Amino acid sequence: MENIQKPITILAIETSCDETAAAVVADGKKVLSSVIASQTQLHQPFGGVVPEVASRAHVEAILPVIREAMSRARVQAEKIDAVAAANQPGLAIALVVGLAAAKTLALAWRKPLIAVNHIIAHLYSALMDQEELLLPAVALVVSGGHTNLYHIPTLDNIQLVGRTIDDAAGEAFDKVAMLLGLPYPGGPSIEKIAAQGRPNAIFFPRTLLEKESLDFSFSGLKTAVLYYCQGQDMKGHNRAASFSTAELADVAASFQAAVIDSLVEKVRRAVVRYQARSILMAGGVAANQVLRSAMVLLADQYGCALHTAPRPLCTDNAAMIGALAYREYIAGRFAPLSIEPKAR
Ligand code: KG4
Ligand code: ZN
Repeated sequence: MENIQKPITILAIETSCDETAAAVVADGKKVLSSVIASQTQLHQPFGGVVPEVASRAHVEAILPVIREAMSRARVQAEKIDAVAAANQPGLAIALVVGLAAAKTLALAWRKPLIAVNHIIAHLYSALMDQEELLLPAVALVVSGGHTNLYHIPTLDNIQLVGRTIDDAAGEAFDKVAMLLGLPYPGGPSIEKIAAQGRPNAIFFPRTLLEKESLDFSFSGLKTAVLYYCQGQDMKGHNRAASFSTAELADVAASFQAAVIDSLVEKVRRAVVRYQARSILMAGGVAANQVLRSAMVLLADQYGCALHTAPRPLCTDNAAMIGALAYREYIAGRFAPLSIEPKAR
């Protein structure tokens, strides 16, 4: 008789920032359910995530979200092989909520506990397609908290080769959106209005650092947008509020183009340096359609395969936690119940 292997089914939990998420994932690829309770509305008035507000909201949402994920996946606790959570990096008082829930369920259900790194999990969200990964690969994880570039000679050896020296790309989108009076989170707001603007209307700087550098810097760009807005007014006031829609669209499109040019150039340098055969891209900013198209062009130009996380899996979610946790499960890397959250 044919030996049909039972899939490895993992309940995964994510609470590192402002989304409370749970997912049930089979064999690291098949998403049986993915539930996300977003706190965007709560943080909107502040233009960014307020840690205490996030932590309290996670406490309120965590059990209903887990229950919903289990129920949508139609699985019972007995069918779960392991419970996983992101334990780093992120806001410690937010991470602790998901981690405590995972520990409790692991203990109560007598299942192994798996703790994963949130950023590496983002990277795995680009690997949930069925395509084979050609190595070496170069990966860009670009979100509100991180802008990291990796060289991946093998999946057991993921090397960080570039990172932002100041703001993350998503953070720059959020700050510039606030400057322009656009709603939080800034990325989607800017992308939307930028679609009506001219990307070459205003020249904003691309901080590429030295010729060989794979690091990123976005604070100069953010300051340039600030000065541009003030420069419209002799008194140095922020005049963005009185911009016409067309002007606002031009600023947004020109800013977005500068961010994308910097991201693409660093990925290009890494592809050349490591002779990459694939490019991976994930994280909240990777949801940006203009960036996605630019990365398609780059991959084409260098003959690389491109793995981009599907748009719903770009921003924080628990399915990606389940994808990475599957790998940890196969490798037998489990966490003790004493494991703590780590901010960095
Ligand atoms: O991955 P994520 O949900 O959270 C972190 O781990 O940081 O990323 C959130 C970030 C925010 O800064 C948001 O403005 C940005 O991703 N973002 C975008 C887009 N959608 C989300 N940035 C540019 N274009 C988008 N369409
Ligand atoms: Zn994230």
